[in-house]
Amino acid sequence: MPILMATGNRTEISEFIPMSFSSLPTEIQSLLFLTFLTIYLVTLMGKSLVILVTLADLMLHSPMYSFLRNLSFLEIGFNLVIVAKMLGTLLAQDTTISFLGCATQMYFFFFFGVAECFLLATMAYNHYVAICSPLHYPVIMNQRTRAKLATASWFPGFPVATVQTTWLFSFPFCGTNKVNHFLCDSLPVLKLVCAYTALFEIYAIIRTILVVMIPCLLILCSYTLIAAAILKIPLAKGKHKAFST
Ligand SMILES: *[C@@H]1O[C@H](CO)[C@@H](O)[C@H](O)[C@H]1NC(C)=O
Repeated sequence: MPILMATGNRTEISEFIPMSFSSLPTEIQSLLFLTFLTIYLVTLMGKSLVILVTLADLMLHSPMYSFLRNLSFLEIGFNLVIVAKMLGTLLAQDTTISFLGCATQMYFFFFFGVAECFLLATMAYNHYVAICSPLHYPVIMNQRTRAKLATASWFPGFPVATVQTTWLFSFPFCGTNKVNHFLCDSLPVLKLVCAYTALFEIYAIIRTILVVMIPCLLILCSYTLIAAAILKIPLAKGKHKAFST
């Protein structure tokens, strides 16, 4: 049962109920649990394998593999935040998520999501340098540049997640305590706020545009330049080699 505390004439919520699976028959729930668990474990094993292989094999200590390792790391985190809670919900039959749990989930959901977007842009830039200036590639993508690029990819996740979580959870919550989603995402939680949220909504739209647009533009730029460079290669054999790279 959710704990409701009456403060003045307003009811505050200290627990959320994300969209539950409890209305489904037990067999379906078990099936869902096994399906999610299988998908989760396979993903986890695949990503862990990428990390282990790229760490173990000295030949693979190339820039692309270090970024790939970063990506696997972020994806493990992202999956953990979403799927682990879902599995817990199915297993324990307890669909509530505490205020703190909800905020924590949202924080890491945003952190890993944003970092992944920017890391994909970094990987596209890495491809661009590798293909368009192959001779300078080892010099340009040296250890220090790689570390800087990786940091720059991870960094935007911190301010975005922090502003999102602290701002949204500083609003008063009242009325229903049902989050109509299996995860504490921005919009489902925002629906439970009983305050003037227009400013936050404008911020959320601008943030989403920036976080999606900037990496997308960088990726598009990289691959356009790559395509342009490849089309300039005269020999069919060379073209084929470049495309496969
Ligand atoms: C991410 O990439 C950087 C730069 O190559 C590397 O130093 C770091 O170890 C990587 N992090 C992980 C978790 O793989």
